Amino acid sequence: MPDAPLEHPDQRRQPREGGEPPAPVPPPPAYEPILLRNIGIPDSHLLKTALSRGAYQGLKKAQAMAPEAVIEEVKKSGLRGRGGAGFPTGNKWSFVPKDKWPHYLIVNADESEPGTFKDRALIENDPHLLIEGTLIGAHALGAEVSYIYIRGEMVLGAKRLEAALAEARAAGLLGNRQIHVHRGAGAYICGEETGLLESLEGKRGYPRLKPPFPALVGAFGKPTVVNNVETLANLPAIFDKGVAWYRTIGTEKSPGPKIFCVSGHVRRPGNYEKPLGYPLEKLIYEDAGGLRPGRTLKALIPGGSSMPVLRADEVQGLTMDYEAVQARGSLLGSAGVIVMDDSTCMVRCLLNISRFYAHESCGQCTPCREGSTWLAKILGRIEAGQGEGGDLELLLDICDNIAGKTICPFGEATAWPVQSFVKRFRDDFAAHITQHRCPQRPAAVAASAR
Ligand SMILES: Cc1cc2nc3c(=O)[nH]c(=O)nc-3n(C[C@H](O)[C@H](O)[C@H](O)COP(=O)(O)O)c2cc1C
Repeated sequence: MPDAPLEHPDQRRQPREGGEPPAPVPPPPAYEPILLRNIGIPDSHLLKTALSRGAYQGLKKAQAMAPEAVIEEVKKSGLRGRGGAGFPTGNKWSFVPKDKWPHYLIVNADESEPGTFKDRALIENDPHLLIEGTLIGAHALGAEVSYIYIRGEMVLGAKRLEAALAEARAAGLLGNRQIHVHRGAGAYICGEETGLLESLEGKRGYPRLKPPFPALVGAFGKPTVVNNVETLANLPAIFDKGVAWYRTIGTEKSPGPKIFCVSGHVRRPGNYEKPLGYPLEKLIYEDAGGLRPGRTLKALIPGGSSMPVLRADEVQGLTMDYEAVQARGSLLGSAGVIVMDDSTCMVRCLLNISRFYAHESCGQCTPCREGSTWLAKILGRIEAGQGEGGDLELLLDICDNIAGKTICPFGEATAWPVQSFVKRFRDDFAAHITQHRCPQRPAAVAASAR
């Protein structure tokens, strides 16, 4: 199917014929960031700066409430997990049993999904926001000990967190609670919550079979909640400003602010905090500065590299919330928005993604371990101009034997990109196979590369 270029919203406004010009519509009030509001402030990572900007006010209000009441407030806020699955946070907390102790709260700061770089920004620039959110969660769950599992490569983030924790501890903000920073070794699979728990316990990061879910049997065999950094970063504002205020942001089913990580072919890639339900076209063409001159949009991945890719015509008029993205055939995931213009070779792009997943498969489940490697090999062959008739069917067949047949959803993360790229850009793949080269590369270059 041909790719329709994505229009800028302004281009769609039609001039009125005759009659009075319409009364000017006042612009909506500028959105004031909540999660990223301290980024750019000098020394934003220090306690004195954080306190001067209102930090720990939400914690005070939450601590004045009974833990059950805190859980109820979070349920009412409609906050959904920002780590990928969008599960309602308050509901998840309420699954933790009251007759089995101790409870643990684990902060998932592994942030391994390609195209996602929001948690790192929060941790490095505003560690006290995360510590405050963690303390609110720990109060609600009755967790005396919490762990922040941070990926090994985030050296600055780990240092800033340790320093911020020392400051918060010295200021008496932690009370009797402990928060430990645990550095991972940089494995994608340790972002999956049960792989993370295994790694935290000092073992190889092999995901666990569920059930039992971590709420019942989690860290060290005890009831545990694993929450993403951005999820917890929402809590201070919910308790400081109240649920009614929070629900004015975003949509009915997807309330609150969201950090969109925009990367790829835009002129201003970066983190943009917006209310959930924000128009994608505004995000790309206004906030992120639009595409390079003369280029049109070809494809877009809305939720990090493991989520299904969408064609340009499929994202027209899309709003960035859980329901709307799902209705178009993808998922909001971690909100890593990867933008691809018409210069993109979809085969090379998918090869790049598939190589990543083949490398990161933990190897525990045969379909994923073997299948992800075969996907990357076949794609490598097609990209090199040596594809054969039947390769696309073979790719899809391998995907069918991975998705839903593994212990953890890494299987889907491996299969979904392949299935969606081949489905939506089949002509591009077929052209590589029949022409024995990338049609977008000059023949001479393709031949010399072989
Ligand atoms: C393969 C895989 C990788 C994941 N990586 C991350 C990650 O890096 N960070 C994260 O917060 N969640 C990640 N998740 C989701 C977690 O398993 C879990 O759902 C999340 O931490 C729950 O937090 P939330 O409810 O606050 O979103 C990953 C899931 C899978 C299947």
